[in-house]
Amino acid sequence: PSSSSLKGKKIMITAGPTRESLDPVRYISNHSSGKMGISLAEKAAERGAIVTLILGPTSLAPTHPSIQTIPVSTAIEMFTEAKKSHPQSDIAIFTAAVSDYRPENPSPEKIKKKDGKLNLTLVKNPDIARNLGQEKKTVQVHVGFALETDEGFGSAEEKLKTKNFDFIVLNSLLDPEAGFQKDTNQVTFIDKKGKSQKSPVLRKEELASIILDKIESFFQTTES
Ligand code: PMT
Repeated sequence: PSSSSLKGKKIMITAGPTRESLDPVRYISNHSSGKMGISLAEKAAERGAIVTLILGPTSLAPTHPSIQTIPVSTAIEMFTEAKKSHPQSDIAIFTAAVSDYRPENPSPEKIKKKDGKLNLTLVKNPDIARNLGQEKKTVQVHVGFALETDEGFGSAEEKLKTKNFDFIVLNSLLDPEAGFQKDTNQVTFIDKKGKSQKSPVLRKEELASIILDKIESFFQTTES
């Protein structure tokens, strides 16, 4: 690890779900546990990187003492913290499962049960990866994730382009060992040249190491 090109590099990682309140009691969220992002934070810290982990609500936490964890709840909070860390980051990894929408008018009091239907109006949340992708400097490396429920290749390629990632890590819920909450994942890496490579089923820690190796190769080719 002491010879790692990540030593001393600043890495920001978004991880976990976001929560969007409907009222003081209820929220919209998703199944992310934060495991994938926490594994990346741990492995990067072991290589000597300076890690800022912007972590949505989860019962899990990293253990490496040098990781700075910033707990957030909503997508807007995650965006605020990511904007603060991004300018001084060498690397940004977007593993968070950010809620694309939030309730337009969260109720200040608990919504009472009434007869008939309840309609919810949702408005778009900021796209954190896309916004920061527009500010990305050539020396910065951005890595995205894509979670799909189909094979997902086309959607992932589209996200790679529109969000200005250097590469994207696609996981599909069609693969039984992939995705939310599991200790394992199975992914397809897609780079800007359209080259893709599917991984075997790996533990999230092992996958984190492979992702970091790929990130290191960017610095080796630009620095040597
Ligand atoms: O946390 P775990 O339980 O370990 O599960 C891991 C995971 C399944 C959450 C992870 O592997 C993963 O796929 N994370 C991305 C999930 C996702 O929301 O993907 P997406 O296809 O909706 O988003 C594409 C990319 O844009 C992602 O890098 C996402 O972080 C980013 N994004 C999306 C929306 C938004 N408003 N802001 C963003 O930054």
